[in-house]
Amino acid sequence: MAEPLIGTATARVDGTAKVTGRADYAADRTEPGLAHGYLVLSTAGRGTLRSMDVAAAEAADGVLAVYSPFNPLKLHRIKTTPDVCFVGQFWLPLQDQEIRHYGQIIGLVVAETFEQARHAASLIRTEYDLRPVRADFAARTGDAVPPPIAINHEDPQVDLLAEEFGTVDEALAAGPVQVRATYTQPPEAPLALEPHAALASWSDGVLTLRVGSQSPVGGALAAAETLGLGLDQVRVLSPYVGGAFGGKLYIWPHPLLTAAAARELGRPVRTVLTQEQVFTTVGHRSAVSQTLALAAERDGTLVAVKHDAVSSLSLSGVIYETAAHTTSRYTYKSPSLHVGQRIVPLDSPPTTWVRAPGEAPGAFALESAMDELATELALDPVELRMRNYATVFPGRGVRWSGKHLDECYRVGAERFGWQPRTAPRPRPAEDSDEVWLTGTGMAGATYPGNLLPTTLANVRLRADGTATVATATSDPGTGMRTVLAMVCADDLGIPVERVEALLGDSALPLNYGAFASMGTSSSAGAVRSATTALKRSLLDLAATDARSPFHGLAADALAYRDGRVVGGGHSLTFAELLAATGRSELDSPGASAPGAERLRFAVHSFGAHFCEVRVNRWTGEVRLDRWTSVIDGGTIINPRTARAQIVGGILFGIGQALLEGIRVEPDTGRFANGNLADYLVPVHADMPDFDIHFLDHPDTDFTPLGARGIGELGVVGAAAAIANAVHDATGRRVRDLPITVDKLL
Ligand code: MOS
Repeated sequence: MAEPLIGTATARVDGTAKVTGRADYAADRTEPGLAHGYLVLSTAGRGTLRSMDVAAAEAADGVLAVYSPFNPLKLHRIKTTPDVCFVGQFWLPLQDQEIRHYGQIIGLVVAETFEQARHAASLIRTEYDLRPVRADFAARTGDAVPPPIAINHEDPQVDLLAEEFGTVDEALAAGPVQVRATYTQPPEAPLALEPHAALASWSDGVLTLRVGSQSPVGGALAAAETLGLGLDQVRVLSPYVGGAFGGKLYIWPHPLLTAAAARELGRPVRTVLTQEQVFTTVGHRSAVSQTLALAAERDGTLVAVKHDAVSSLSLSGVIYETAAHTTSRYTYKSPSLHVGQRIVPLDSPPTTWVRAPGEAPGAFALESAMDELATELALDPVELRMRNYATVFPGRGVRWSGKHLDECYRVGAERFGWQPRTAPRPRPAEDSDEVWLTGTGMAGATYPGNLLPTTLANVRLRADGTATVATATSDPGTGMRTVLAMVCADDLGIPVERVEALLGDSALPLNYGAFASMGTSSSAGAVRSATTALKRSLLDLAATDARSPFHGLAADALAYRDGRVVGGGHSLTFAELLAATGRSELDSPGASAPGAERLRFAVHSFGAHFCEVRVNRWTGEVRLDRWTSVIDGGTIINPRTARAQIVGGILFGIGQALLEGIRVEPDTGRFANGNLADYLVPVHADMPDFDIHFLDHPDTDFTPLGARGIGELGVVGAAAAIANAVHDATGRRVRDLPITVDKLL
């Protein structure tokens, strides 16, 4: 028997291509006759464009066209919602003279070179009629309103109350121990290292659009709807995507304008955004303010949880952070529970999905509040969580398909060397010469396991002994290409080197892509379905084709094992069988779709984070020294890429806790630090030592393969673990992220 591949730390199949520069990202591509686009952005936050003087730009060297609201590229109005058409905002630029946010697209200059286009863009003079900008989230949280649409398909407010109480406030009042606090965080950028870029070329009325996307199919839907094309007239290619984090799920206007310009000019056009342009033309995570109240018995048993979240919602966008619904709604068992969501509409660039949308801010608040309650009760934070452990989903009465969070806490505490804590850590004396204060913190993590709607894949055996697996998803750096090749190779019993995974092309078998931590479970399920069917066809072929040495045997008497068909005293590799039967290849489709498991179970991945920090007594500097996470994600197909996913998620949490945040100028809506120099993200020097451990509990009630998602799980709770450790070290509870030095002095 061949050794199983699933569960082995396999190197990325595209690793060599990536490190040698052969991997072609959208901005790397060129085409004969390529022209270059450069965006022009507004320097006003709200109002109307009065005029744009483009004469100098049009006269500049190499300029082919200057498009603006006064010389527009026609785009069709978006008639549907983003989850249908995959455009990240309601309106499209250049179609009117409205200024809806600072840094919005008001022009596209196309020239022979990038430098010529950028220079010409700098020559444009613009006049605005300004209107007051509504951009100050903090000043407006008191005026928050119910969301216009329920993104999570749940009521904006959910109340599950014990019989004796009419409101959650009554239930809270009945608890002998209470904590109540407000937690805030600024907007965050998804910030992928690969700049957003698009290359559009047309041939016989068919558009080929190269754009880094989590969903090539979504990109094709977006381009078709806005450019007035049939789906057979668009092909979106995203062979490599250099990070996405939600920011490359929906299509933003620049690829659409680039495609429209290429159509008008009759030349391929490539538009590469600067990172500064990405901040305002690609969506970001809402600002969030959350008020959390917990009431408990003296033994720590929760009697009521009340979690109200307020998120910014761009007047241009439709996505906002649903922080309470994604965390307090189900994390702990409590006889009374309230979650509420309101929004503050702002004249801001679009708000959108960003890694662990809802859970990332929600878990910061909930897992901080649990730590505050533990302190209040003089109870160990792990023990407090165990005393409120949920085994059925509140209000639905269903159990989880697989939940081993208790084991995550236990194994995590052991690996980390967690010291149960029932009292505040002693502070050094005032005159002590100790510089660094050490503290430890922990938090739990949850993220839903879902499946994409119908996902198709095709697996093909070739006469040279290799195989291909094809599906229209993308690999935004997660390891999707590697994981799908592994599942295919494992099922076929051949080395992974003999499988080529074809992804990143909307023309491949239907697949909505890589997002919401659904990619692996959905796509791998479709691949397994295809290999299962393919092995059956291969045995049928062996039994029925007159040229086959197995001819005449019943297909049932044959078996497929380790890349070979065996039976009746014969054993042939699939390549030999294909050759014997005169075939160059044999293929089969497969499909995955959500089913009855949605009704029978709640499905989530779980984890527990433990970390140790050092805080400088005199400067307030926070350093992370070590980190343990124990992850319950079902079957881990590739522990190597999975570890990278969890570490990457924790990095998001480190950024959220200590560094990140878009600073919005309240009067203009300008992102004051909207560039890579001023918007801080964690770098290698900010990393602790990571101990990432995966539990091995295949979730076969969810899918036959048993894999749940892990792409977003690592973020969840990470910021709370850090804030809790900072509290342990310093006695200071910082509830406003990021935890910058000024908040610790
Ligand atoms: Mo994720 S925020 O669905 O890419």
